[in-house]
Amino acid sequence: MTAIEQTVSLGDKAVRRIGFGAMQLAGPGVFGPPKDPDAARAVLRRAVELGVDHIDTAQVYGPDVVNELIAEVLHPYPTGLLIATKVGGARDETGGWVRASRPEQLRATLEQDLRTLRRDRIDLVYLRLGVGGGGPAPVPLADQLGALTELRKEGKVGLIGLSTASVDDLRAALAITPIAAVQNPYGIGNREDEPVLELCREHGIAYVPYYPLGSAFTGGPQALASDPVIASVAAKHDASASQIALAWLLARYDRMLPIPGTSSLAHLEENVAAGRIALDEEDLAALENAGHLGAPAF
Ligand SMILES: NC(=O)c1ccc[n+]([C@@H]2O[C@H](COP(=O)([O-])OP(=O)(O)OC[C@H]3O[C@@H](n4cnc5c(N)ncnc54)[C@H](OP(=O)(O)O)[C@@H]3O)[C@@H](O)[C@H]2O)c1
Repeated sequence: MTAIEQTVSLGDKAVRRIGFGAMQLAGPGVFGPPKDPDAARAVLRRAVELGVDHIDTAQVYGPDVVNELIAEVLHPYPTGLLIATKVGGARDETGGWVRASRPEQLRATLEQDLRTLRRDRIDLVYLRLGVGGGGPAPVPLADQLGALTELRKEGKVGLIGLSTASVDDLRAALAITPIAAVQNPYGIGNREDEPVLELCREHGIAYVPYYPLGSAFTGGPQALASDPVIASVAAKHDASASQIALAWLLARYDRMLPIPGTSSLAHLEENVAAGRIALDEEDLAALENAGHLGAPAF
């Protein structure tokens, strides 16, 4: 069975292995409306047509812009579509990323997600711990998770996840409440998060790698394509380097759920089709030391 036929259960939903990261649908710098709103709408529509049933978004994308686009195009949502959001950050008036992790801020962001996405409950909410650009001193983890467990009791949150979390964060969180998924930066070109991935494997926690293609911010896809080993495996499978990077991720863990981000229909089709590629032992051995591009900033 190739990955395209597999699902992973997350709460009351079973999602396909390749999801969609919606961050690329905002304007430049993930701020404001997209340059081409019709193209963004077409990508969302096509994602669902292709069977994508796991969409990753956040109030901070735009802010609100991406959530509103998702609701405009996809509401009423297909049964089985899992929408995940993140709380813990906010945007300032210039688009800067700031921390918003006090319990009342977490609640306000979640309420805004519910409004803009037109949902009564967000299936999966990540508490984002790291925030680019810093901000006020972090609130204790127990207080932040306390806010989310309250919201879960109220039925507004389905599952709780962690994002940009360390091994220590994950261990501390697990002592407080079940954690359904971790969303951290990871990919063939950035493997620094292996210890968190290993802890997820031990606990059967879904692992959602962000920047699975190495990120737009650092020219990830182009760097993947210029790696000779990735290029040769890609040629063998008549695939693109990005597809090999996704297939490599899928082979790392059976609860690995990449959310490649794109604003392009062609790239979307390519990314979903990566689930059909089965890398063999020889490919995986060759890729063992390929693609080390360095950790993307942020
Ligand atoms: N938790 C967090 O803090 C956090 C942080 C960052 C991102 N995320 C989430 O993770 C998702 C993925 O991250 P990302 O979008 O930043 O990075 P990514 O998926 O690694 O890469 C996106 C970049 O790759 C390009 N691309 C996509 N598919 C391609 C293909 N098949 N061939 C060539 N280029 C391709 C996109 O450009 P085109 O638009 O031209 O396709 C875009 O420039 C985001 O959308 C977001 O939902 C979460």
